[in-house]
Amino acid sequence: MGVEVNDLWFKYNGADKWALRGVNLSLASGRLLLLVGKSGAGKSTLIKAIAGLLDGKGEMRGSIHVGKVYPVLQNPENQLLELTVRDELEGIDEDIADAMGVLDLMDRPTFELSGGEQQRVVLAKALASGADVLLLDEPTMWLDLDGVSDLLSIIWYILRTGRTVIVSEHRYHYFLPMAGEVALLERGSITFHGPPRNAIESSELIGEVGVPLFMELWRSMGGAPALTVSEIARN
Ligand SMILES: Nc1ncnc2c1ncn2[C@@H]1O[C@H](COP(=O)(O)OP(=O)(O)OP(=O)(O)O)[C@@H](O)[C@H]1O
Ligand SMILES: [Mg+2]
Repeated sequence: MGVEVNDLWFKYNGADKWALRGVNLSLASGRLLLLVGKSGAGKSTLIKAIAGLLDGKGEMRGSIHVGKVYPVLQNPENQLLELTVRDELEGIDEDIADAMGVLDLMDRPTFELSGGEQQRVVLAKALASGADVLLLDEPTMWLDLDGVSDLLSIIWYILRTGRTVIVSEHRYHYFLPMAGEVALLERGSITFHGPPRNAIESSELIGEVGVPLFMELWRSMGGAPALTVSEIARN
């Protein structure tokens, strides 16, 4: 099962504006949806709503249908509860631990891990929990380029296991090559939902979230929109 959101509205307690305004979203199993939008557009709110984390936090209308879901939030340290990584990942399959890059971390105290290491442990927990939908809110926030590259390999692995993934990201260009679809949130509503190719050709999207430098350069040279550097190199 993927994710199905129907006419979802959400207003935080004490707020006067709706943070989500009639969101409809349908995502088939095994696909990655890249969620983009300006700061305050409602990306984290939508992720928390799908994860079931907004109960009691405000007024909700509409419906959400999702399989077993696991969110990886902006501060992964809040999702680590045990003293050591081994305790955190008790009973995890060795293959999964290896694929998530946490085998070498097993004997480390969780509070000593870097942001990227904490994130890999939370991703390993997510897989070990049997979740079939993973929600990643700004996963590159604490990562340098090497960290981003490790994360991308891990997400490719997760997708190969048939799981469904939603990634909310400002540095969205890293995820375009693996995204089955892109959705743009503007002031709580989805104003674009389609394949990455259409997304980068949409001036709306580019105007809303800004375009990465390599795409900008390429466009200024009159090139057709490219999804990856290798695509530019081929042209
Ligand atoms: N706990 C809260 N109480 C009241 N309002 C909130 C709360 N959390 C978020 N909001 C408001 O809801 C709206 C959507 O916020 P949200 O955090 O979902 O945006 P976002 O797209 O994730 O932004 P960013 O890119 O900065 O992470 C904003 O107007 C924000 O101020
Ligand atoms: Mg956010």
